[in-house]
Amino acid sequence: ATPALAMTHITADRMIDVETGAVIEAPVISVDGNRIASVTANGEVPEDAIRLPGATLIPGLMDMHVHLTGDAHTHGYRRLAVSAMRSALTGAKNARISLESGFTTMRNLGAPGFADVALRDAINAGDIPGPRLFVSGPAIGITGGHCDNNLLPIAYKAKGGGVADGPWAVRAKVRENFKYGADLIKLCATGGVMSKGTEPGAQQLALEEMQAAVTEAHNRGTTVAAHAHGTAGINAAIRAGVDSVEHASFLDKETIRLAKKQGTVLSMDIYVTEYILSEGEKAGILPESLEKERRVGGRQRESFRAAVDAGVKMVFGSDAAVYPHGQNARQFSRMVTFGMTPLQALQASTINAAQLLGKQNELGSIREGKLADLVAVPGNPLEDISVLERVQFVMKDGEVFKNSSENF
Ligand code: ARG
Repeated sequence: ATPALAMTHITADRMIDVETGAVIEAPVISVDGNRIASVTANGEVPEDAIRLPGATLIPGLMDMHVHLTGDAHTHGYRRLAVSAMRSALTGAKNARISLESGFTTMRNLGAPGFADVALRDAINAGDIPGPRLFVSGPAIGITGGHCDNNLLPIAYKAKGGGVADGPWAVRAKVRENFKYGADLIKLCATGGVMSKGTEPGAQQLALEEMQAAVTEAHNRGTTVAAHAHGTAGINAAIRAGVDSVEHASFLDKETIRLAKKQGTVLSMDIYVTEYILSEGEKAGILPESLEKERRVGGRQRESFRAAVDAGVKMVFGSDAAVYPHGQNARQFSRMVTFGMTPLQALQASTINAAQLLGKQNELGSIREGKLADLVAVPGNPLEDISVLERVQFVMKDGEVFKNSSENF
């Protein structure tokens, strides 16, 4: 008989069961290949166990809105000089940084030239380290909209890869994105902060266009994420049946009622406003974007609090790339400041995210049989959420990518 492969055992001071909020003292987690084989409390610690004294084990973190192929220093006109090939290599750098900061799963929502598909495939092939990625390909939106390229005059014929007008054109674009490897669809339902000549409050894709995209994506068994700041655009996106609303800045009572009724998930990037307003000018962000951010950021934080109070389902989404990759976890403390308990913030970035991806049986908590995505932080995040900014140990799919536990 072939001898059984050696299991990996990990022990720490405590572990958080994010599904119940229970704190398990002195856990021993045994990993067999890429899966969690067992979780025991106060059990016997095998000789060869990875020991993480002082640490708390949590599931691998999940960020549902990033752009790994972009960097925080190439905003505005600087972006025009970056090819899709170059952006894929930027993505390789940022994938490693993100994984080492504790994010083992991410949704990449919008990348030119399918650089995100190339990045995902390179990670899955084991060529480069990075989080488990779910990618959208080019974001789909209207001519002149937030997901178009509006930086140049007509002579240059610049056009975003995801531009489509009319329900059938949108269907064709959705099909094209799937053809070239997208896992899910990103729509632009309203204008945005970072794009030239668009208004965050104004609806862009029409209800019928979004319904077309949702039908195509759901037929395929996958999901739609809609960028939406303004109330009308958010409401239309929810009515069209999108699975998540990104940003969700201007919520009102009706929006919150609709989201709860439909089970729509909100992914609100409430940290990034601090970076845009302090570093944005140096980073090349357009003056009009800085002006728009001043109108959006504060309202978004009020909306976040209202959504949490109303019990809307929320996931963690940072929009990293607008601010530097690796700093994603700074958003956790803001989520607590604006109304979540530390456990709710952890759930948003683990079990809720796994549900949104339809992977709740594989990801999102430390449970026997799930994939072995584990992170350790120095201290108890239920007491001090900011310890999530100092991840010391990362395992993804049973493989250790970081262990600086001796520094505890
Ligand atoms: N990508 C988004 C946009 O351009 C970023 C919004 C950032 N601001 C905010 N308060 N969340 O619209």
